[in-house]
Amino acid sequence: MDFLISEEQKMIKQAAKDFAELELLPGVIERDENQEFPVEQVKKMGELGFMGMMVDPNFGGSGLDTLSYVLMIEELSKIDASSSVIASVNNSLVCWGIETFGSEAQKEKYLRPLATGQKIGAFCLSEPEAGSDATSQKTMAVDKGDHYILNGTKNWITNGNSASIYLVIAQTYPEKGYKGINALIVEKASPGFEVGPKENKLGIRGSDTHSLIFNDVKVPKENRIGADGFGFKFAMKTLSGGRIGIAAQALGIAEGAYELAKKYAQERKAFGTEIANHQAIRFKLVDMHTQIEAARLLVYKAAKEKDEGKDYVLSSAMAKLYASKVAMDTAVEAVQIFGGNGFVKEYHVERMMRDAKITQIYEGTSEIQKLVISREILKK
Ligand code: CAA
Repeated sequence: MDFLISEEQKMIKQAAKDFAELELLPGVIERDENQEFPVEQVKKMGELGFMGMMVDPNFGGSGLDTLSYVLMIEELSKIDASSSVIASVNNSLVCWGIETFGSEAQKEKYLRPLATGQKIGAFCLSEPEAGSDATSQKTMAVDKGDHYILNGTKNWITNGNSASIYLVIAQTYPEKGYKGINALIVEKASPGFEVGPKENKLGIRGSDTHSLIFNDVKVPKENRIGADGFGFKFAMKTLSGGRIGIAAQALGIAEGAYELAKKYAQERKAFGTEIANHQAIRFKLVDMHTQIEAARLLVYKAAKEKDEGKDYVLSSAMAKLYASKVAMDTAVEAVQIFGGNGFVKEYHVERMMRDAKITQIYEGTSEIQKLVISREILKK
């Protein structure tokens, strides 16, 4: 895969790998067990520039390309998918959304603290009755002249409590359907903003996922992103890039599980030899290795297309669809190779198997990716 990565990108990958091994690995099992947010680790990620990788240095970012960002997420995810999703949402949904579509004043006020990691962002699209069907927004942003009054509930919000800057998608003109939807920047300190209880999740338990409740929250009009009614397109365009980040996360989980399983297979003995010498295990390793290489090509291709200014709706959906399947399949097989040890926490692969599942659900389920892909390949 070296032919796709520059010397500078290799150094970024190495820096992320070193950080993950030194700072994320210690305590990763306990954070998962206790649902503990990696406060100190995220602070260090900010200091290293990992929270605003693609943001212009004029706004405190690292000014790097999407492929560099993907390499960072991939390396973090090999060890701790909870930390990587915190970074992924901040980078590719919140920072990218504000930098690409926000006003200069919004960038000055909100992008800088997000890009430097001083503040964390959240992206609030899903609702109790609007997950995949994202146009059916029930959260209302009523136009009151110089401000909006926001009412409603958002569900399954990553960084739900740890964030302090929220991009909230809400309906202003229900009669216009998706063309009436707006995207608003909402501050946590706003009166009427309430964070619901933490979700007790199957995986990525170190990240905090909450529902959010808005009760007559006053949002100044200057906090609307883009033109009146641009909110749904804003969400869709932003999610296309977000899917590259989740695809990279899935790729990293797959690689992490595969590397552990390969090492274990070369050490563990059964029937008088290392289990890697048994064809039953070898064939599993072959499938894992081959599928990971294929997933990596799709993920890097989507990142390259974004960097080259090409349309990446199709490539990002394909990368997420395939990499998340490879993550799930690889993690299940890794547990199988570990046998009984795979079922206990200290060997890490059971956590990776639980973490892998969410990559097939958030930022669009696999079924939604297939819908997006089918539309793209069939359109004239
Ligand atoms: N880029 C730009 N525009 C897009 C677009 C894209 N990727 N996808 C759709 N649009 C545009 C369409 O072109 C259309 O505009 P025009 O009428 O001007 O052509 C408009 O948006 C409406 O699109 P559709 O008619 O396709 O809308 P739809 O109701 O059929 O829905 C969907 C399309 C693909 C199913 C969409 O609803 C979707 O992506 N759903 C999944 C939502 C999702 O990913 N949720 C995840 C929550 S966020 C999250 O998980 C973050 C986290 O915390 C980790």
